[in-house]
Amino acid sequence: MSDSQKHYHVVDLLKNRWSPRAMSGESLEHEELLTLFEAARWAPSSYNHQPWRFVYATRTMPEWEMFLNLMVPFNREWAQNAAVALLVLSHKIFEYNNTFSRTHSFDTGAATQNLALQGFAMDLVVHGIEGFDYDKARIECEVPDSYDIQAMFVVGKKGPVTVLPLELQKREIPSDRLKTEELIFKGKFGVKD
Ligand SMILES: Cc1cc2nc3c(=O)[nH]c(=O)nc-3n(C[C@H](O)[C@H](O)[C@H](O)COP(=O)(O)O)c2cc1C
Repeated sequence: MSDSQKHYHVVDLLKNRWSPRAMSGESLEHEELLTLFEAARWAPSSYNHQPWRFVYATRTMPEWEMFLNLMVPFNREWAQNAAVALLVLSHKIFEYNNTFSRTHSFDTGAATQNLALQGFAMDLVVHGIEGFDYDKARIECEVPDSYDIQAMFVVGKKGPVTVLPLELQKREIPSDRLKTEELIFKGKFGVKD
């Protein structure tokens, strides 16, 4: 078997995680929500800067509708059944010397993936969202200029696929990926062998 056909064994959590959209509309326990943020907390970061911050709204909070209204209609349609929406922020400035952090986005991505993996392990739906109004989010959530808005995520209890419109029901399956060898180069960009 050539390398391009081979699948290397990685831990099940990494291989099995995916991003469903079907959620039940139930709330999470506060303990569950805090467990997700605790998972994010343990991510590595350059200089241990920990630049990730999360502004969240649960579906019982007054801000819930505001979060939903930030989303494009396509996302709002399925995300309305989530239990919580998170705005993922990263601090662009190192606090210890007030200089620009090159890796703030990278670090915050790692923290958010920790959160996603923890959520998946807890049998929750965790789904990233880029389709929302970033400028409006900054204003409405009062995000300071020294923080980038990276993405939104919604988290919820799993629901039956029938809560989704027909078109999305067909897409409610794990996605494929590029082949491993498409991601890696030897010594210089573009060099394969
Ligand atoms: C930062 C980020 C933004 C995303 N934005 C959206 C979005 O706006 N709408 C959507 O339906 N899915 C969105 N997704 C989900 C991706 O499409 C999904 O993660 C990708 O297709 C891989 O599928 P998987 O997570 O099921 O493995 C987003 C994911 C991430 C990480």
